[in-house]
Amino acid sequence: MKGKEMNLILLGPPGAGKGTQSAALVERFGIPQISTGDMLRAAVKEGSPMGLKAKSCMDSGALVPDDVVIGIVRERLAKEDCANGFILDGFPRTVAQADSLQATLEDLGKELDAVVSLEVDADALVERLTGRRICKGCAKGYHLRFDPPTIAGRCDLCGSELYQRDDDREETIRKRLTVYQEQTSPLIDYYRQKGLLISIDGMRDIGVVQSDIATALRIS
Ligand code: AP5
Ligand code: MG
Ligand code: ZN
Repeated sequence: MKGKEMNLILLGPPGAGKGTQSAALVERFGIPQISTGDMLRAAVKEGSPMGLKAKSCMDSGALVPDDVVIGIVRERLAKEDCANGFILDGFPRTVAQADSLQATLEDLGKELDAVVSLEVDADALVERLTGRRICKGCAKGYHLRFDPPTIAGRCDLCGSELYQRDDDREETIRKRLTVYQEQTSPLIDYYRQKGLLISIDGMRDIGVVQSDIATALRIS
């Protein structure tokens, strides 16, 4: 990696493993994960005006308007804890968001180091999302088959109950995958043209994907 900062984007369809791999990168490099999905879900839970606006989009599997997410990411990137780097998980998701990110980073005197693109087949994505469970306490993600908790329904880390995300129903999943194809997948070429794209085979086991990303980042 050049320089001291590690400014990353994790790009990939719903269920590709962005959240799972972000958690590993947070631990390894000590830089924060910035997940627009997590931030929006927190706003929905709080019942804030932004949350109310976002909820219907999220429940239907559509994207939340660009100006909403652009605003929250701009604010978040300016925080002190991003000084040594950040991992953007689920942002940008449209070309307009990517353009605005570039302008924000220029304003902040920052530069992207790499865009890690996780590639996973559509069938595997559906299986991953229908089997996903999340801890109510610490938000750690699990999978009923691929990454089960030691005690069914309970988090290994904090013992809290696990739940299923509202948008992880098969019908909503299909819609999210279509939205990804139409609105987000053009970003693969967008970042390839900028020489920032690192393609990773996201079909492999969680641990293998994790070490493939680490290897790719070290030599890039
Ligand atoms: P968001 O929360 O970002 O959801 P997403 O992009 O659909 O992605 P997911 O969180 O579902 O998947 P992931 O890639 O993180 O996979 P995970 O690691 O959990 O966004 C939700 C909604 O918010 C959007 O639909 C939109 O409405 C709105 N939104 C968010 N950002 C926005 C933006 N920028 N602009 C506009 N709207 C926005 O893994 C999935 C499962 O698979 C887990 O169970 C995991 O254990 C398992 N798994 C992971 N890796 C593997 C592996 N290698 N092998 C087997 N299983 C695996
Ligand atoms: Mg996620
Ligand atoms: Zn927990």
